[in-house]
Amino acid sequence: MKTIGVLTSGGDSPGMNAAVRAVVRSAAAQNIKCMGIYRGYKGLIDGDIKELTVTSVCDIIQKGGTVLYSSRCPEFKTEEGMKIAIDNCKKFGIEGIVVLGGDGSFRGATDLSARGIPCVGVPCTIDNDIASTEYTIGFDTALNTACELIDKLRDTIGSHDRCSVIEVMGRNCGDIALEIGIATGATATIVPEEPFDFNTDVLQRISSAKKAGKNHFIIVVAEGVGGVYEMAKEIESKMNIVSRATIIGHIQRGGSPSVKDRVTASLLGNRAVELLAKGISNRVVGMNNNEVIDTDIFEAFKMQKAFRTDLYKLSKVLNL
Ligand code: ADP
Ligand code: F6P
Repeated sequence: MKTIGVLTSGGDSPGMNAAVRAVVRSAAAQNIKCMGIYRGYKGLIDGDIKELTVTSVCDIIQKGGTVLYSSRCPEFKTEEGMKIAIDNCKKFGIEGIVVLGGDGSFRGATDLSARGIPCVGVPCTIDNDIASTEYTIGFDTALNTACELIDKLRDTIGSHDRCSVIEVMGRNCGDIALEIGIATGATATIVPEEPFDFNTDVLQRISSAKKAGKNHFIIVVAEGVGGVYEMAKEIESKMNIVSRATIIGHIQRGGSPSVKDRVTASLLGNRAVELLAKGISNRVVGMNNNEVIDTDIFEAFKMQKAFRTDLYKLSKVLNL
């Protein structure tokens, strides 16, 4: 393989730039040229493609967002869009692509592989919702951002004997909420994976915490559950505790990547290039027990993400 491409697609995540850097430099180490494809699959259709060199990826490892930009590109899902994308791969001499993104982006990668452009996926999303890997690039940074913000909220609710109902991101996955619930000592953590009863799992927990002597309460709600404004109103009316709802939102996607995200991105970007260089495609790289792994992309789609029941139970034991 003489030339590969790299693109970032779907929601950006901190650590994507570290992964781009790893792809470019790992390719260079094997005398493979690397083309940067801008704005995900959109750039493949628009021909927005430029060579990346070992020096053009200097000074990006510490940056949040993605220097290649990202997009969601419906046109790529059409036969017409796909044909233009393939033609552009040929035009720019791209013989394989490293796709940095989430599940949706990996489905696009299988379509390209099926049409003769081998692809390898690198899981980049703050949601940690890819079943074939126990970790996705960006998760740790998003957790630290959310934790810092909720610590700040605690300062103010603690000063006013209030309750804070906070929505964290994660799409349909409760992993961010689970870890944040533990890290911020939330009185209740609500995730889409576990059924909950508002009375027992929220109101009664606040009531017991109050009896135990707490004067302020944090309720963490995963995006996949939602309804924080309604919950805050109900807590206020039923418990007579002033309550405020906060949706932290996209702030969780930004910021300089943590060490864990930079190192994981470096390891996974490197493995992706190794696979392509050996002519292996349709794989998703990932982490398992601190080891780099790669999995067949179609097997990965079939996998069911394991829910951290241990963390869920722990939050109920430790958190008042
Ligand atoms: P993520 O990769 O974060 O899950 P999306 O689901 O939005 O994000 O997917 C990103 C892009 O991947 C889409 O805009 C589209 O271009 C491409 N894509 C998603 N699903 C498919 C699919 N089933 N077939 C082909 N391309 C897809
Ligand atoms: O997948 C990352 C994520 O930030 C999710 O947590 C969230 O549901 C979604 O993307 C938001 O997407 P958008 O940037 O299109 O609003």
